[in-house]
Amino acid sequence: MHKSVYDIIRMKKDGKKISVVTSYDYTLASLCDKAEIDILLVGDSAGMVMLGYENTIPVTMDQMCMFTEAVSRARKNALLVADLPFMSYQVSIEDAIKNSGRLIQAGADAVKLEGGIVMSETISAITDIGIPVMGHIGLQPQTTMLSEGYKVQGKTKDTAIKLIEDAKELEEAGAFSIVLEMVSHEVAQIISETVSIPTIGIGSGVGCNGQVLVVQDLLGMYEKIKPKFAKRYLNLSEEIVKSLENYKTEVESGIFPAQENWFSMDEDEFKKLREQIGS
Ligand code: KIV
Repeated sequence: MHKSVYDIIRMKKDGKKISVVTSYDYTLASLCDKAEIDILLVGDSAGMVMLGYENTIPVTMDQMCMFTEAVSRARKNALLVADLPFMSYQVSIEDAIKNSGRLIQAGADAVKLEGGIVMSETISAITDIGIPVMGHIGLQPQTTMLSEGYKVQGKTKDTAIKLIEDAKELEEAGAFSIVLEMVSHEVAQIISETVSIPTIGIGSGVGCNGQVLVVQDLLGMYEKIKPKFAKRYLNLSEEIVKSLENYKTEVESGIFPAQENWFSMDEDEFKKLREQIGS
């Protein structure tokens, strides 16, 4: 039986830290699940790390459903949360409910959406129909065009108060947890102590109740952006390129494939074949 939102909420009450990584495909999701990561997040960051977009804006519901289906086939243990992409929940509450339903039908246990107080009605409406929602405040990649870009949030008293109010409102609206992205660590700590639901930090310090990283950042596979907060536990891109270079060299020199990599005919059958074709 995989984890439920109640297991995640209980982890905060029990003082246990929550581990979250993004997942988009069957193979990596299977490994994340085997490592007993608590939450697999099908983030709309898929648009950048899987599809090569500049940002998350072009990501569609169809794409998110496809990634969610793949991850849901892999997970056995974790809670599966999927992102509502840009424009799938902002226009109307009807859209938000319909698209949340699509992600749940694709295999998610909960959905995540970006926004503070302005999204509270939407969050209430989605949770009212029985779909758990993870909030996301601080840096909100879907709306960086309007803000100052990828900047730390909550560095002044007034912006800090706004973030604290946003977090309280999300809890009130029924969110079961909140992602705090690039929030100053002091404010993240205050929010984590103020709300009773778990906070999941990304670049927001150790005071959060859990941490999330993009799996390609953690494994050192994504070269385009290297955020300060994304600790690399491996340099997989270097290993992958080295392995591919070795493969190319061996193909060119005829070292690969070797006998253990191919299949043979039965000897008698081969003899008969040669007799028949005269070679
Ligand atoms: O899309 C994503 O990967 C996210 C995380 C960075 C929290 O929203």
